[in-house]
Amino acid sequence: MKTLGIESSCDETAVAIVDGANILASVVASQHSIHAKYGGVVPELASRRHVEVIVPLLKEAFAISGLGLSDIDGLAVTRAPGLIGALLVGLSTAKAIARVLGVPLIGVNHLEGHLNAIHLSEKDVPYPHIGLVVSGGHTSLYLVEDFGSYKLLGATRDDAAGEAFDKVARLLGLGYPGGPVIDKMTAGIDPPTVEFKQPKFRNLAEFDFSFSGIKTSVMFHYKKLCDKGACLDEEVLNLVAGFQSAVVDSLTKHIIRAAEKFKCRNAVVSGGVAANNALRRRLAELCPEHGINVLIPPIKLCTDNAAMIAYVGGRYIEMGKRDNLDLNAKAVEEIGI
Ligand code: KG4
Ligand code: ZN
Repeated sequence: MKTLGIESSCDETAVAIVDGANILASVVASQHSIHAKYGGVVPELASRRHVEVIVPLLKEAFAISGLGLSDIDGLAVTRAPGLIGALLVGLSTAKAIARVLGVPLIGVNHLEGHLNAIHLSEKDVPYPHIGLVVSGGHTSLYLVEDFGSYKLLGATRDDAAGEAFDKVARLLGLGYPGGPVIDKMTAGIDPPTVEFKQPKFRNLAEFDFSFSGIKTSVMFHYKKLCDKGACLDEEVLNLVAGFQSAVVDSLTKHIIRAAEKFKCRNAVVSGGVAANNALRRRLAELCPEHGINVLIPPIKLCTDNAAMIAYVGGRYIEMGKRDNLDLNAKAVEEIGI
C-alpha cells in the first residue's frame, strides 16, 4: 500500500511516499530562514510559503521515488493540531489529489505522527511503552498501549520544551530555532556551573511539565550578568547549558517515573527536541539503570516530516478508515484524553 503523506502544520512543508514502514521518498522544505528575523513563526508567512513550495516538493518526492501519481493507493494529511492557514494548504492539496486519483483520503493528528515515527526506523516496536512527544508546540507524555491506543498521562502547563529553547535563545540573541543552536554551543559543557531548580508549580499533576519558570530564571540570571558589566561568553554558555540540563532532567525523570508506575520496560521519544544531544545522552545513561530501553528515531524523523504522517495514515486506510472531502483543519486536538 503506497501512501502519499503531506505535512504543513507549522513552518515545515513536507511530502513523503511510504510503502508500509518503508520510506520511498521524504522531502522537507524548512522555513527557518523566513521566520528567523522575527524569532518565531509568523503564521501568515508560513501559509504563503507552504503554497509556494508544496507543488515543487510533490514533484521532488515523485522523482526520488521513481513513482507516478497513478501508483498512489491513498492520501494522508496532517489535519491537526497546528496553524490553521498552514494546515489548510496541505489539506486542500491532499483533497485535490485524492479526488483526482479516486483514492482514499485520511486526516492524521500530528502528535500521533510523532508518536509513531519510530516504526519507520524500528522493525518491532514493543507495547505497551511510554511515549514522549517533545517539540516546539508540545510536550506530552503518553502510555501507548498499541497502535492507535494512547492515554495522555501529562502535558506541559505552559511552554513546550522546544518553545522554551526558542525563547531562551531569542532572549540571549542566539538565533532561531533555539534548540539546535543551544545544543551545538553547549557541547562539552558537562556539568554546567549554573544549576536551575525544577519548578514548584502549585497543582501540577503527577506527569505534567512546566518550563516557563526555568525560562524566567534564565532571564533574571542573564540580567544580573549584564548588570555587572562585562558578560563573558563562558558565563552565557554555562547559563544556557544549565537551562538545557534542567529541561533534560525534567523530561528524563518524567519518563522514568511513568515507566516505573505503568510497568513499561520501553520508552519512545520523538519530536524536534528528541534531536537534542544532552537529552539523548541523559536518557542513554539513566534509563538502563532503571531497566528501561529507550528508542529514539533518527533526527530526520524526530523533527517534522511527512513520512510519519503517511505511515499513520496508511495504517488507518488499511484498517478501513476514510475521511470525506469535507475534512477540516483544527488548531487544537489532543489525543489520548
Ligand atoms: O517537531 P518539530 O520539528 O516541530 C514542532 O512540531 O514543533 O520541533 C521543533 C522544535 C523547535 O522548538 C526546536 O528549537 C526544537 O524542536 N529542536 C531542538 C533541537 N532540534 C530542534 N531542541 C533542542 N535540541 C535540538 N537539537
Ligand atoms: Zn512536530
